[in-house]
Amino acid sequence: MNGVTALKPVEQKNAHLSCKVNGEPAQVSVMPCKTLLEMLREDLQLTGTKHGCELGECGVCAVLIDGLPALSCLSLALDAEGRAIDTIEGLAEDAELHPLQSAFADLGGAQCGYCTPAILLTSKALLDKQPNPTREQIREALSGNLCRCTGYQQIFEAVEEAILRISQAEKQAAAGTG
Ligand code: FES
Ligand code: FES
Repeated sequence: MNGVTALKPVEQKNAHLSCKVNGEPAQVSVMPCKTLLEMLREDLQLTGTKHGCELGECGVCAVLIDGLPALSCLSLALDAEGRAIDTIEGLAEDAELHPLQSAFADLGGAQCGYCTPAILLTSKALLDKQPNPTREQIREALSGNLCRCTGYQQIFEAVEEAILRISQAEKQAAAGTG
């Protein structure tokens, strides 16, 4: 016996939090050490949010917190308390794809698709704030989202196509023909 006492592992108790996920109230019991990414994927089975570098470098884990893009691998689950979290599972309305989703599908903005959920949500946050962004503003907004497949061109074109589709739908709705 050399006088060194082994430390007992610290027992973590689950914490309880309330938030909204994709517009619905959610109560979650979660280990305080978990990231928001882990809570979404493991506790809520929302696996559309992807798991990448866990270092804040690839952007595949982005979700919206109170409408703004956030890296869920760098956020604690407990940071969701009282906040509205939007994931890719909530982007389509009923059976209808969001115009960003349909434009990405039609123009090849998604290839392997691993980066796509985060890119769609980040683009949505941009369009909610700035409905008619320039190519440069789109590029800037998506600069934290890495894509190894597309070369980005199709992604930028798909966002621009979605802008056109949203604008056409709004005009039709205003004219009562939508
Ligand atoms: S997993 Fe890469 S930034 Fe979060
Ligand atoms: S479509 Fe494959 S990483 Fe972007």
